Amino acid sequence: MTLAGEASAGFDDLSRQSLRLLGALRHHHPATADHSVRVATVMLAMWSHRPDGLGDAPLVVAAGLLHDLGKIFVPAALLDAARRLDEAEQRLIRAHPVTGAETLAALRFPAEVVAVAREHHERWEGGGYPSGVPASGLCPLVRAACVADSFVAMIEPGRAYRRHLSVAAALAEVRACSGAQFDPDFATLLTEGLGPGFQAELGLDTAPGERRPRVAGLLPSHLLERALGLPPCPW
Ligand SMILES: [Fe+2]
Ligand SMILES: [Fe+2]
Repeated sequence: MTLAGEASAGFDDLSRQSLRLLGALRHHHPATADHSVRVATVMLAMWSHRPDGLGDAPLVVAAGLLHDLGKIFVPAALLDAARRLDEAEQRLIRAHPVTGAETLAALRFPAEVVAVAREHHERWEGGGYPSGVPASGLCPLVRAACVADSFVAMIEPGRAYRRHLSVAAALAEVRACSGAQFDPDFATLLTEGLGPGFQAELGLDTAPGERRPRVAGLLPSHLLERALGLPPCPW
């Protein structure tokens, strides 16, 4: 896998560039970078069970790692705000799919990675953003990302504006929103197809009292390292 228009050098180009941008995102807002690694890992787990139509592993991981890149243009204080945001602030945050996609396109990332950045807040039956089109017409990688992103957002602690859910409650929510917000196939894959081993792999199978520190520091990088052939993650 290479960046569009560049000479072939294996998937290292894509992975290297993705991790570089993830590093910049981490510098700006560490919690968003952690979130992005979790989303990439859930997407990778989905891919490992059903890769059809999703592309290869480095592409899936890059899409997950960079889906929220546009948040690099949103002030960190706004991303952490525990108060109700005014309209201008909401607009700024809701611009992150477009700014992220434009950045990735300018850097000549693969079209699928750009599409995930632009469309990961669209909904299966429409009414999401930025375009509001039904996600049923979007590519499978986008539809997988929509499910993985929302699931991870539900279970993550430390969000200033709401409490996180238990894994079981989040899976129930994904199930409940299947066919409305989420692609039913990918919702089923996440909630039923991955099996209990998936939660253990992500470090999500601990008791609620123990889960917070593990999830707060959760960088399930062993999956990514395995997929990308990287040395152990230093974070
Ligand atoms: Fe997002
Ligand atoms: Fe996200």
